[in-house]
Amino acid sequence: MTTGFFITGTDTGVGKTRVSCALLHAFAAEGKAVVGMKPVAAGCEHGKWRDVELLVAASNVVAAREQINPYALIPPLAPQIAAKLANIEIEIEVIQQAYARLKKTAEVVIVEGVGGFLVPFNHQHDGADLAKLLGLPVILVVGIRLGCLNHALLTARAIRTSGCPLIGWVANSIDPLMMAQKENIQLLAQRLDCQLLGILPFEKNSDIQLIAKLLDITKLGAA
Ligand SMILES: Nc1ncnc2c1ncn2[C@@H]1O[C@H](COP(=O)(O)OP(=O)(O)OP(=O)(O)O)[C@@H](O)[C@H]1O
Ligand SMILES: [Mg+2]
Repeated sequence: MTTGFFITGTDTGVGKTRVSCALLHAFAAEGKAVVGMKPVAAGCEHGKWRDVELLVAASNVVAAREQINPYALIPPLAPQIAAKLANIEIEIEVIQQAYARLKKTAEVVIVEGVGGFLVPFNHQHDGADLAKLLGLPVILVVGIRLGCLNHALLTARAIRTSGCPLIGWVANSIDPLMMAQKENIQLLAQRLDCQLLGILPFEKNSDIQLIAKLLDITKLGAA
């Protein structure tokens, strides 16, 4: 049976890709066939979408690009705005079909969300709808920086309101100068009411294999 996880974050740029790749490595190290998915990537550099490249490199299952990344948008903008500039509309059904096909190829599918949890995709659907329609439990990446308590608690509330189970969170230190990091993480551990999968230190050139070792995937009950 295939297990899927939806990786969301407290914001854009908080470490969703880093954590997604580390989870792919951690499950692969357990002998699982794993594949990453980025339903909507916005921001093309030199003909490539960074998140998609990193997820593909961290996967041990080879799959078609249109399944891994059904929507590749050129400008680094919010999905709905980037889609409008491209004269297209993001359709959740297209993503659902791509996920259904991808699911058949792997034992674990890690789906990286876009931006924060409630980012709009079209006039009707947002990131919460996507997680819900894919039927996935959610892992929240908290970028540990000033303001993260509010962002994390708001996001956790939005996840629970969506009806998706919030099964774990990762504390990712993205600001080396932030004071009282430990205290912030402790407070969140008390309040988020889900498994803390790991605490990732600030590390610019970190090896994803080493980061994977800092995540306890046994807490997800799928290893
Ligand atoms: N713990 C960390 N220490 C140092 N740099 C980090 C850490 N986590 C993430 N970064 C860096 O911060 C940047 C953003 O991380 P990442 O791409 O994983 O975020 P994201 O949430 O996936 O962003 P997006 O919303 O664009 O998908 C990257 O350059 C990444 O290498
Ligand atoms: Mg990313």
